[in-house]
Amino acid sequence: MIIGRKVVFLEETTSTNDIAAQWGREGVAEGAVVFAERQTAGRGRMGRRWESEGGLCFSVLLRPAAANWTRLTTWAGVAIARGIESVLPGCRAGLKWPNDIWLNGKKTAGILCESEPGANGWVVVGIGINVNAVPEAFRDQATSLRDSVTRSVFGVRRFCAALDHQAVATALLRAMDASYKEDFSQIIAEAETRSVLINRSVTIHTPTETYQAIAEGLEPDGSLRVRREGEVRIISSGEVSVTPSPSPHPPSTSAR
Ligand code: BTN
Repeated sequence: MIIGRKVVFLEETTSTNDIAAQWGREGVAEGAVVFAERQTAGRGRMGRRWESEGGLCFSVLLRPAAANWTRLTTWAGVAIARGIESVLPGCRAGLKWPNDIWLNGKKTAGILCESEPGANGWVVVGIGINVNAVPEAFRDQATSLRDSVTRSVFGVRRFCAALDHQAVATALLRAMDASYKEDFSQIIAEAETRSVLINRSVTIHTPTETYQAIAEGLEPDGSLRVRREGEVRIISSGEVSVTPSPSPHPPSTSAR
C-alpha cells in the first residue's frame, strides 16, 4: 500500500494542501494523507475558495516521476469516480475536464494538484467532495453524494440516510491506492468514457480568447483535444463548459 500508509485527521487547518506541501518539503514519504474537518482557507482552481461544509477534504502527498506530473489530475479523477461508485452502487460518476467529478449533471467533487518551484519531486493532490450537503452558495451548480441517491417518489423527496464520512474516505483511498500504478493508457481510456464533454459542443475560455469547439478526446498526457472549424487544438489548461443548446421552443414574438 502506498496511498494511506500514513493518515492524519485534523479538526481545523488552513488547507490540507498546505499540510501535505509542508510534508513534501520535509521529505515525508509519498502516500501520506491528511484530512481536515474544516479548512479556514480551502482553495480551488483559478484562485477560487473551496467551502467544505458537509464534505470531505483531504490531500495526498505524492512523489511521482516527473513525466507523470501532468497525468495526476486525470488519474485522481478516475480513481475518485471509481471510489464514489463503490460506495454508491448503481451511480455513474462522470468527469468534467480538467478537474471535476460530476453526478447527475452537477459537480460533486474537485481536484487541485499543487507543487512549487524547486520542489524536490513532490506534488500534492487535494480533493474536496460534497458528501452529505452542498455549501449554501453552490446549491444551484453542485450536488452531493447524498443528493444523488435521494429520489422523488410520487413527488415526495425521499432522502437517504447521511453517508458515513469514514466509509467514503476509506473507499476513496482504496480506489486511489489500487490505481496509482495502473497503466496510464487505461486510465486515459476510462477518463474518455467518463467524460461529460467528449463529442459535445464546448466553450473554451483561455486568458486571451473564448471560442466554441467540439471536444474530441484526451491526449496521452491528459490534455483535452478539441476541433474548431476543422482545426485540431490541444488544450492543457483553462476553463471548459458545455455550450448550452439553443432553446427548442424559442419564445414566440407574434401577437396572440
Ligand atoms: C476545484 O474544484 O477547483 C478544486 C477543489 C479542491 C478542494 C480541495 S479540499 C482539500 C484540498 N485543500 C484545499 O485547499 N483544496 C483541496
